[in-house]
Amino acid sequence: MKITITKDLDKAQDVLFLGLFEEDKDNGKSFSKELAEEVEEAMNRKAFSRKFGEMYSTKLSSHSYKKVVVMGLGEKKDLNAEKIRQALGKMVTCAKGRSFSSFTTNVVEKARDAASHESLGRAAAEGLLLSNYNFSKYLAKEKQEKKKPLDAVSLQWSSSATELSEGLKVGRIITEATNMVRDLVNEPANVVTSEYMEKMAKQVASEYNSVKLKVLNKAELEKEGMGSLLGVNAGSKNPPKLLILEYTGSKKGKHTALLGKGITFDSGGYNLKPTKYIEDMKTDMAGAAAVMAAVKIAAELKLKKNLLGVMPMCENMVDATAQHPGDIVKAFNGKTIEIGNTDAEGRLVLCDALAYTEAKYAPEVMIDFATLTGACVVALGYYAAGVMGTNAELLKKLEEAGNHSGDRVWQLPFFEEYQDWMDGTISDLNNVSQKGKGYEAGSITAGVFLSKFVEKAKWAHVDIAGSAYWCVDGPYLTKGATGSGVRMLAYYLMENQEKE
Ligand code: BES
Ligand code: MG
Ligand code: ZN
Repeated sequence: MKITITKDLDKAQDVLFLGLFEEDKDNGKSFSKELAEEVEEAMNRKAFSRKFGEMYSTKLSSHSYKKVVVMGLGEKKDLNAEKIRQALGKMVTCAKGRSFSSFTTNVVEKARDAASHESLGRAAAEGLLLSNYNFSKYLAKEKQEKKKPLDAVSLQWSSSATELSEGLKVGRIITEATNMVRDLVNEPANVVTSEYMEKMAKQVASEYNSVKLKVLNKAELEKEGMGSLLGVNAGSKNPPKLLILEYTGSKKGKHTALLGKGITFDSGGYNLKPTKYIEDMKTDMAGAAAVMAAVKIAAELKLKKNLLGVMPMCENMVDATAQHPGDIVKAFNGKTIEIGNTDAEGRLVLCDALAYTEAKYAPEVMIDFATLTGACVVALGYYAAGVMGTNAELLKKLEEAGNHSGDRVWQLPFFEEYQDWMDGTISDLNNVSQKGKGYEAGSITAGVFLSKFVEKAKWAHVDIAGSAYWCVDGPYLTKGATGSGVRMLAYYLMENQEKE
């Protein structure tokens, strides 16, 4: 989608979306008297109210547009960057649904006092490009045609556009990487294997001189003693891999390590998932994909920061060679783990990745992203990821980045009382809680397990089980993969660069 900025509304586009605040008295009169009359009449009929996001499709015909739609923007004081994402997302969905190919709108201009012009530009690009995304490659041509993305959008902006353009540029980079994640997560598990992810990581490394890829294959994983990770892959015909992207963007500063759960399919193993729970488990590598995207964004934006993108890739399958419930494995750091449940596999691959990363690179910060627990979907649903950890300052920064980007995180309490709930009885740890009924605070106890594999680094764990894959449409994200974590991380990394 081409995004342009024009001083006035752009008459060359198919549709005009005209935003109106509740307090806008003229009802669009500055555009045309005819429009104002129609809007007033619609308001009297209660067919339109100017509440945020409400649309009214006019009958207007005496002008250059194929369609003129009025959109309520609510009260001016409530407009912010997230609402701009939402408003533009709704416009894209509406125009796409009616097979138009372009539109122009005044909403960004209407928001000029709502946020910095750069952040408005970012939000505009995100709203437009996230909602223009389709995963339609497996549909017949005619059906693909119906979901055809828009070609062009023109944003009205009446003053200097330097900052707005810069924001649009950054927003596009962030969104394109997010949409790459959505593709990777939407692709089925017979396509996205550990080897496929390795190919993608290679591509990122070959695109930027500042990025290098290190791959640990099965033999090296065995040599390093990552018994926990290897146990998860034991039933799969696809090889396990630990992919490590390293981005160098600063001459000083220790690494920030980003780690992502990379289970290309989670059948549950011998604790097999039932129907209704197993079908979407191709999405269980969303954390790894988000981490790959974050490294790509950092390289593209040349962020002053040194990063690691660590992706433990496995497949959790059932086979004669698969691990049994009750098996005991030994992790990289020497701790023994009893497999209380083969379906709690995410923590088993991440714990080795965390311990290995800290031992080899001594990063200052480690943040992991994982579709880790069904409990997190129950607790928070789709609209925020769960976050927990041991460093209050890091958690606050992630929360802020989440709020600014619209890719939110919500803190779960990492209470002292839970810190021994993952202790084992005949081993150091069990991969499922042995206290109480076993399922209480499932997201927190999973985090507790991971925390036992971090020693010095400032660490946060982000559970994206609910936010990574939606079963409903939103204003600018649609059913399916969302790229959860990417925007939050991008905003966090931009705000926390090294001061050189
Ligand atoms: N990948 C799942 C978690 C998940 C559930 C992600 C729903 C996305 C949507 C994870 O590996 C898992 O199976 N967790 C178990 C842990 C339990 C056995 C302690 C769960 O949440 O049921
Ligand atoms: Mg599982
Ligand atoms: Zn899983």
